[in-house]
Amino acid sequence: MSKQYKGFSTRAIHVGQEPDAETGSVAAPIHPTSTYAQEEIGKNKGYEYARVSNPTRTRLETNLASLEGGSSAHVFASGMAAVTALCSFMKAGDHLICGSNVYGGVPRLFNQVMSNYGLEFTYVDTSEPRNVEKAIRKKTKYVWIETPTNPLMVLTDIAAVAKITHAAGAELVVDNTFMSPYFQQPIKMGADMVMHSTTKFLNGHSDGLGGVMIGTTKEHAEKFAFIQKAAGAIMSPFECWLVLRGVKTLAVRMEVHDRSGREVADFLNNHKKVKKVLYPGLKDHPQHALAKKQQTGFGSMITFDLGSQPNANKMLRKVRVCTLGESLGGVETLISHPATMTHAALGAAGRKAIGLTDGMVRISVGVEDVQDIIADLDQALAAV
Ligand SMILES: Cc1ncc(COP(=O)(O)O)c(C=O)c1O
Repeated sequence: MSKQYKGFSTRAIHVGQEPDAETGSVAAPIHPTSTYAQEEIGKNKGYEYARVSNPTRTRLETNLASLEGGSSAHVFASGMAAVTALCSFMKAGDHLICGSNVYGGVPRLFNQVMSNYGLEFTYVDTSEPRNVEKAIRKKTKYVWIETPTNPLMVLTDIAAVAKITHAAGAELVVDNTFMSPYFQQPIKMGADMVMHSTTKFLNGHSDGLGGVMIGTTKEHAEKFAFIQKAAGAIMSPFECWLVLRGVKTLAVRMEVHDRSGREVADFLNNHKKVKKVLYPGLKDHPQHALAKKQQTGFGSMITFDLGSQPNANKMLRKVRVCTLGESLGGVETLISHPATMTHAALGAAGRKAIGLTDGMVRISVGVEDVQDIIADLDQALAAV
């Protein structure tokens, strides 16, 4: 990596994004090949078969490792494929401590798939680091946290949990999807690995699916590369290219997401139909101080409570600028109902246990004109 590539945006635009050596093409070429011509037995240009490696993928992995401050990155077909890759480092009897309020697909994978192979999971509220300490076992290999959480916007003190995790000889993995590396750098705070659903802010345009695991040791790099080769759930060259293109504008998008996020949160917080707003940027958020300490922005994810599912539906039926749908992190404002969408798999009891109500609506504020987003929410809330 060139020494001139220091700042975040410079790295986002240039690391792994160097002009093509053969043609000078400024945009990275897409290599949609399954295999590579070899000169003789054992002599090739570093690429043999596309499941193992691909030049467009190498570019993206180099870029994302730089943005998160890790030593390696490996990309997968989805965020969940990246989590699956981590699980395949575990053996029967190994134990993972997971935050009790994370993206619903993660406990679904742990409880309904991985536990069938003898992997053991404990769920604790990681916003209180002592809960992690209490749950540590001899065989604890990983602690998995998401901060802020989806959709309750609860934070975990990354540095405090890293200390506890390391004292137990385990490793801390942080799902940094909500903040992106632009607003939060978990490795600098002691995390061993960082995961993203690249589907969200890294891609940023709601047009691709992917996941990444960023590691800090030689062992991480070797194991994730091996899993890519052995299990094969890799990101396609075209999807890699979409993320390479997306990250070039990550910093400018995140600045707008954050600015508009704060305005929308203020609007909702002052609206009489809204019972509660969960957004770490609000001064009355119980972890506002921690958000200011470990994040450099508050982002654009906001959850608010309308009191009941019928109320939420009345509003969601009326939105026109905001799009009702799953997912987040795109340039367009996406609005969803976690209880029936992202967190349906938790079941009513699981949702109740973490405080996720049927009246909650989650919004991922996009980069449209914020006045239009607010006007749309205002007219939709009138239906409640
Ligand atoms: C915070 C978080 N982590 C992980 C995932 C899973 O990623 P994917 O949908 O790319 O498999 C999601 C998806 O919504 C998410 O929001």
